[in-house]
Amino acid sequence: MNILVTGGAGYIGSHTCLELLSAGHAVTVLDNYSNSKPESLNRVERLTGKTIRRIEGDIRDGAVLRRALTESGAEAVIHFAGLKAVGESVQLPLQYYDNNVVGTLRLLEAMQACGVKTLVFSSSATVYGDPQRLPLTEDHPLSATNPYGRTKLVIEDMLRDAFAGDASWRFGILRYFNPVGAHASGQIGEDPQGVPNNLLPFVAQVAVGRREFLNVWGNDYDTPDGTGVRDYIHVVDLALGHLRTLEALSKAPAGQGQCMAINLGTGVGYSVLDMVKAFEAASGKPIAYQIQARRPGDIAACYADPTTAKEVLGWQATRDLQTMCADAWNWQRNNPLGYGG
Ligand code: NAD
Ligand code: UFG
Repeated sequence: MNILVTGGAGYIGSHTCLELLSAGHAVTVLDNYSNSKPESLNRVERLTGKTIRRIEGDIRDGAVLRRALTESGAEAVIHFAGLKAVGESVQLPLQYYDNNVVGTLRLLEAMQACGVKTLVFSSSATVYGDPQRLPLTEDHPLSATNPYGRTKLVIEDMLRDAFAGDASWRFGILRYFNPVGAHASGQIGEDPQGVPNNLLPFVAQVAVGRREFLNVWGNDYDTPDGTGVRDYIHVVDLALGHLRTLEALSKAPAGQGQCMAINLGTGVGYSVLDMVKAFEAASGKPIAYQIQARRPGDIAACYADPTTAKEVLGWQATRDLQTMCADAWNWQRNNPLGYGG
């Protein structure tokens, strides 16, 4: 298939482009490089021996979108482009609504104009808010506690409304849990700008000597060791979930669309201290940490019921915690300064 990937130079996008190319798809990336570097795509090309068509531009620009859809001959779009930092979204809510919500609206308009009706969208487990029950099934009530989360909810609602108005759309809404790790080659991985917000990139930077110690945000939660529990998923498993989603969407009979929301997680929760121990084992480096107060807005525990993905997509995560940490360390050790090094 010809696939347009928005935000394809980013962390999850670059890993997905690699799997798409390896499976024989033709890939066009539209990215404004606001949170990534073209070097990630150079490396994907080297690893696969295939070429990516690249368009530098913004998803809020309808003309660029129509050009990208037309030039690529796109049959489907995988839509990663967006801003993703929870704390920043509280400071800059309008930028988040503009980039994420307006950007997705422009994308849907351009797709409609060009007759491209298949979209895979990066949603997040954040749309479940503070879980009322665990594990999280897709029918759990949706809510949001910060502007970033609300942009994901608004976009999900926009997709459901678009489908209600035109049942020929094919939408795969993927609710990611906590993506971690890197490609086994150690050539592509997560390259956060500035101080990492997320746990594993921060731990990796402590291991490589870029940071002195990890702040553990709270050890008084109602969890086995008091620290926050999350469902960490290897980014390559996550990338493969997008391929399975495209396959499932393309199976719908002609003219008949679908709109499905699916969790992509492992179903297993690990605590912050579990992650520290696993990373120490993978890297052979001690990870110094200090217990701090809870981070505002954090929840105690969050993990998926991944049954729908297995039943509907025939997909399940196969890479374990040891592999997630070993691959994250391999990337960090080979690229201590990320793509800028
Ligand atoms: P990322 O920041 O590495 O990748 C996003 C890419 O989109 C970057 O290359 C960036 O330059 C590009 N981009 C941003 N705004 C753009 C715009 N207006 N026009 C064109 N390009 C633009 O993030 P990621 O971790 O790869 O996440 C991808 C998607 O998955 C995001 O939508 C994010 O909200 C979602 N998600 C991520 C996580 C996570 O923990 N990483 C969890 C749940 C959901
Ligand atoms: N944590 C620390 N120290 C740190 C960073 C994190 O103790 O320096 C803890 C957090 O308190 C939490 C756990 O590690 O208990 C995971 O935190 P992350 O920031 O890595 O991830 P979150 O679960 O808070 O959020 C992530 C993404 C969101 C997304 C959500 C669900 O940042 O955008 O997963 O997919 F919505």
